[in-house]
Amino acid sequence: MLVAATCWGAARDSGPGTAGATAANAPDVAQLVRAMTLDEKLDLIGGTGFATRAIPRLSIPAFKMSDGPVGVRSPPPSTAYAAGIALAASWNPQLAQDIGTQLGRDARSRGAQFLLGPGVNIYRAPMNGRNFEYLGEDPWLGSRMAVGYIEGVQSQGVSATIKHFAGNNSEFARRTSDSVIDERSLREIYLPIFESAVKEAHVGAVMSSYNLTNGLYMSANPYLVDTVLKRQWGFDGVFMSDWGATHDAIAAANARLDLEMPTGVFMNRTTLGPAVRDGKVSLATIDDKVRRILALGARFGWFADNAADPAISRYNQAGREVARRGALQGSVLLKNDNALLPLDAKRVKNVAVIGPLAYPGVATAGGSGHVPPFTSVSLLEGISNKLREATVTYSRGIPTLRVLGMLNTYSTEASGGSPGIRVETFADASFSGAPLATRIERQFTTGTASFGGDPEFIAVLDSLPPAQSGPILANLLRAPPKTSVERWTGWYTPTAAGEHTISVQDGAGYRLLVDDKVIIDSSLPKAALRQARVSLDASPHKVRLEQTSPAAFGQPFWRVTLTRTGTWVDPLAKQLASRADAVVLAVGFEADTETEGADREFALPPGQEELIREISAVNPNTIVVVTAGGSVDASPWLERARALIAAWYPGQEGGAALTELLFGDANFSGRLPISWERRIEDNPSFGHYYYNEPQHPIQIAYREGVFIGYRGMQSADRRPLFPFGFGLSYTSFRYGNLKVEPAARGSSSLYTVSFDVTNTGARAGADVAQIYVGAVEQPVPRPKRELKGFARVELEPGETKHVTMPLDVRSFAYFDVKGKGWRADVGRYTIELARSSESIEARAEVKLPRTLKIAVGESGG
Ligand code: BGC
Repeated sequence: MLVAATCWGAARDSGPGTAGATAANAPDVAQLVRAMTLDEKLDLIGGTGFATRAIPRLSIPAFKMSDGPVGVRSPPPSTAYAAGIALAASWNPQLAQDIGTQLGRDARSRGAQFLLGPGVNIYRAPMNGRNFEYLGEDPWLGSRMAVGYIEGVQSQGVSATIKHFAGNNSEFARRTSDSVIDERSLREIYLPIFESAVKEAHVGAVMSSYNLTNGLYMSANPYLVDTVLKRQWGFDGVFMSDWGATHDAIAAANARLDLEMPTGVFMNRTTLGPAVRDGKVSLATIDDKVRRILALGARFGWFADNAADPAISRYNQAGREVARRGALQGSVLLKNDNALLPLDAKRVKNVAVIGPLAYPGVATAGGSGHVPPFTSVSLLEGISNKLREATVTYSRGIPTLRVLGMLNTYSTEASGGSPGIRVETFADASFSGAPLATRIERQFTTGTASFGGDPEFIAVLDSLPPAQSGPILANLLRAPPKTSVERWTGWYTPTAAGEHTISVQDGAGYRLLVDDKVIIDSSLPKAALRQARVSLDASPHKVRLEQTSPAAFGQPFWRVTLTRTGTWVDPLAKQLASRADAVVLAVGFEADTETEGADREFALPPGQEELIREISAVNPNTIVVVTAGGSVDASPWLERARALIAAWYPGQEGGAALTELLFGDANFSGRLPISWERRIEDNPSFGHYYYNEPQHPIQIAYREGVFIGYRGMQSADRRPLFPFGFGLSYTSFRYGNLKVEPAARGSSSLYTVSFDVTNTGARAGADVAQIYVGAVEQPVPRPKRELKGFARVELEPGETKHVTMPLDVRSFAYFDVKGKGWRADVGRYTIELARSSESIEARAEVKLPRTLKIAVGESGG
């Protein structure tokens, strides 16, 4: 059997996704544009909530939208699929297409014409709070997955909306930061997924990012939007702003923003009417936006059929099955000492399922990407369903931060005060003068965590007509007026002296002081949850939180907890673990600790490292399952875990799928779509990922250039803990017969790579064969190897499959900034067949006889 992969720029027909196509019965768009008044046109280019504006006079319906990207979020509940990072870990573009198809179907069942996904910003560091939505660190892997996803969505008559264009690689200061990225890195690393989405999948819509890139907001960035996206790549769809990412009507209009979301706060009749009359914005510019919006409707048939289709059940049985496949293929087995896994269901008598992520199931992380599912199968439920005869015990293992917050008691004074925390309100963050007001709170917390979004609220909002929901949303997006700040002060007396973990959950700017010393400075808010270690004696200690700026996302919420090292773990959990044949220990993040609007820390949330250490100390057969949008700091505990699984955010069927994998009913086939650092210092963006000076805009210089992830670690000779492309299986594979031959005449590729993969073990399994290309002579600094092809190959025991994949000019090229185009220099190149970026199985060499160039905008460029 032959397995073939596609090649860069190979345009495919994607049904309604084909640009320029028009659905039957679609109106004549040019005629419609001519029939519209200027005011109607200006109404159309400012949205209304999660929809475009209807123009009843001309029978132009509203086109509705829904987030995206891991499920069709509104109205909830909805099927939650494996998150983007898990999907990327499957290295299976067909699975991406299958999930896309279900998402398109789910969107239709909810009457949405635009799905606000996929999210494709490159994974630069594990801290980015939205990594879970995105597709990993490699542009080739990401582009294959995005193309599949978009083709699936668009096959259902729904437009995908690829986001966030461009340079949104952290949630830290996302609305105020300027991503300073050199042209070559943009072209080689940060733009290719968008480029493939436009050129190959004919994506219908592109969403801006919030940040500035190279000095300009992306809603008004003529170079990247007009020149690159629209002219060079030929994007003919709708470029919409992110929600509240527009800042200037005329600049945005002229920089070719087509649609301001969620409403026309800037691009509206009042601002653009006079601008058109004064010639500051041409009528042709406005007409182009209107034409794009209407043409998209015509292309997908939204004029004839724009209502929810009640015949499509919102509870999606087929979607559940695809969600399960996503979790099965996306989970990555990273460690399996002495073949502890798979567990033998016939022999295991007692399994302890422990940890904060063991129950309830955590399908997705937080923010607009959070999907409230109909059901979410936890590991506890999955394992209990499987082991009907055996004993399955459960303990959360450590208390929730909410409970901890309640257990911590404070006094208003070091001695002789009353119970509680003194809250003082000041006019500004200098905290000078007498407080404007004072009150006492009993707990060090305010508000409730709501990063996951309130399903009821989303449902209510969705049921309202756009004219009503639009203003509510616009209001929510406006930063709350900053009229005052609060200072919370309480005295905490430890029950015993020792090291304590202090944790703060807060989306706003703050400083945390213990005994007047700054312990956490989050004036520029970084992570949604931060922790620090402090050594305290048993006397009263002054704990103070100074609020310095409003929450960046969601409602105001904060919580401070204090816990002494050695007291985290529930003794019952240890007892259960000590009696079990094996422990499945589920740790990681969830919607309130990993979310849009904030970053997260590299370390696991408070108490979890101690949990792993103490549980594995009483039961050596401990299998750690990590839920996270990327790598976490595993070095403090990895030695102790016999097995380690990256489950990412596996979607609503996660617990069921992981159970199949744990017991060998299915085989692991996921591979890392990221490099997993041993220490965060090894990440190539370390040291300049955050910028600490409060200035506007906050400049984030992408100093590592094209050397991100494995590209950077290899050039610096730093070994990752687990390399990009790595993942274990219950079977073994052998590669052979690597050949690199010139491609057939007339083909768009240069070479055809072929090889055999054989399953040499006793179980069926899928391997992911990877092809890396490296330039031997380097006129410009280039990574040692870059992924240019891969194939997921399913094999029965003993079976061999022959794989072929093409390499084209882009597979060899770098972006030549001076020459303004792609350039593959004459000379030698290595072609490596690998099982990961660090594990090369076979190597060939080719020599390009002459330098090949492709100008941007040319086919293939
Ligand atoms: C997010 C987008 C999302 C939009 C609508 C924004 O805050 O950045 O990704 O699609 O909200 O919910």
